[in-house]
Amino acid sequence: MNFDAFDKAIDSIRNYADKHHHNKEEDILFKKMADELGEAVAKGPIYGMFADHDLGRLFIKNLQEALNRVKEGEEDSKVDIIGNAIAYTDLLYRHIDKEDNAVYKFGETRLSKEALKEVEEKCEKVETEAREKNIQDKYLKLVEEMESIAF
Ligand SMILES: [Fe+2]
Ligand SMILES: [Fe+2]
Repeated sequence: MNFDAFDKAIDSIRNYADKHHHNKEEDILFKKMADELGEAVAKGPIYGMFADHDLGRLFIKNLQEALNRVKEGEEDSKVDIIGNAIAYTDLLYRHIDKEDNAVYKFGETRLSKEALKEVEEKCEKVETEAREKNIQDKYLKLVEEMESIAF
C-alpha cells in the first residue's frame, strides 16, 4: 500500500481544500450571506454547507486513524480506509455540486454589489497572503504528482 500517496492526499485536503478554500467560504462568503440574507438562509443552505465541511473533517480524521492502524499491522482496518475515502469523495462531489449550482449562484444574485465587492477583496487578500507562502503552487504541483501515482 502506498502510504506516502495517502499522506500527500490528506495534506492537500487538510491544508488546501479545508484550511485555505473552506476558510474563505466559512469566514468570508458564507458569513456574509448568513449576515445579510436573513435567518432562513443562515439556518438553511449555509448551515448545510458548514455541516458538509464538518462531516468531511470527520471522514478525513477517520481515514487518518485507519491508516495509522494499518501502518501498525492491523490489516482489517483497510476496510475503514476504503469506506472513509469513498465517503469523503462522494460527500465532496455532492458538496461542490450544491455550491456550484445553488449556493454560489444564490449569493451572486442576492448579495448587494457592495457585499460582493467586499467578499471579492477579502478573498483576494487571502489568495495574496497564500501566494507569499507558495501555498497554491505547492498544492498544484502535489495534485499533478498524485495524478501520476498509484495508491
Ligand atoms: Fe465548501
Ligand atoms: Fe467550495
